[in-house]
Amino acid sequence: MTAPETPLVLLHRDGPLATLVINRPDARNALSFPTLLQLREKLAELKTDDSVWAVVLTGAGEKAFCAGADLKERRSMSEDEVKEFVRNIRGTMDDIANLPQPTIAAMNGHAFGGGCEMALACDLRLLASSALIGLTETSLGIIPGAGGCVRLPRLVGAAKAKQLILTAKRCTAEEAKRMGLVHEIAESANFAEATATMVQSLLANGPLALRAAKDAIDGSLDRPLELALEHEASCYQRMIPTEDRLEALAAFAEKRKPKFQGR
Ligand code: COA
Repeated sequence: MTAPETPLVLLHRDGPLATLVINRPDARNALSFPTLLQLREKLAELKTDDSVWAVVLTGAGEKAFCAGADLKERRSMSEDEVKEFVRNIRGTMDDIANLPQPTIAAMNGHAFGGGCEMALACDLRLLASSALIGLTETSLGIIPGAGGCVRLPRLVGAAKAKQLILTAKRCTAEEAKRMGLVHEIAESANFAEATATMVQSLLANGPLALRAAKDAIDGSLDRPLELALEHEASCYQRMIPTEDRLEALAAFAEKRKPKFQGR
């Protein structure tokens, strides 16, 4: 009997929270083609699962959240295979960005290249205080091709994004926090606790409201103001017939915390 292969991506469930773990610590959680495929499979599962209210994305081990694309695998790829890989890694980041649930990149270690792009596709970002983060692709003769050239400028502004991408800078956690690339930083010793606090700050709120607010924000970015406001209104409308809205009003009147059901 052959031993079962270790999964490259783990999916843990804890009530309404789903945690995805890139599980290649010996390769600093680099994204090989099979890793991307396993990740996309799990993301497709989560996307349609209404019982999942929030998603955490993290890496196994303590050295790296994700060291980006697998550069060893890349060496043996033909040009066509590289094109196919880039299409897939970009698709993976889009899958993450398009999850209806709020997402947290819990970066327990370094995040470079595709690892940083993965975090950029999440809604909230937490980085270990000893970790470095950056889009380092130009130092490898390529460019960020999984959304990095698009999402980073939208997050920190074009001037800062150009500086980071054109110099392939590895930023410290403090620098990343100052420029708004990450929301929070935490010591490695407290990282699990800091992640749990961030998760709890989401799960305390109505799960349908979290999805609708994410949709209202993401769906407004590329629309002219009038249409963006209409989109926000349609997201609000979805909340009006929900039990969670009535429960929150009852809880307010009764001076207690609401018990949201996601209905
Ligand atoms: N692809 C494939 N393998 C990788 C990798 C990557 N992106 N990053 C690290 N690894 C491998 C190393 O080759 C090494 O393998 P080995 O034990 O067979 O030699 C193993 O992971 C450990 O790496 P190492 O550099 O020894 O670990 P470290 O903890 O000292 O440093 C990093 C970790 C992430 C800082 C460093 O590996 C690094 O800079 N990697 C490249 C990051 C990068 O530029 N990514 C952009 C890709 S587009």
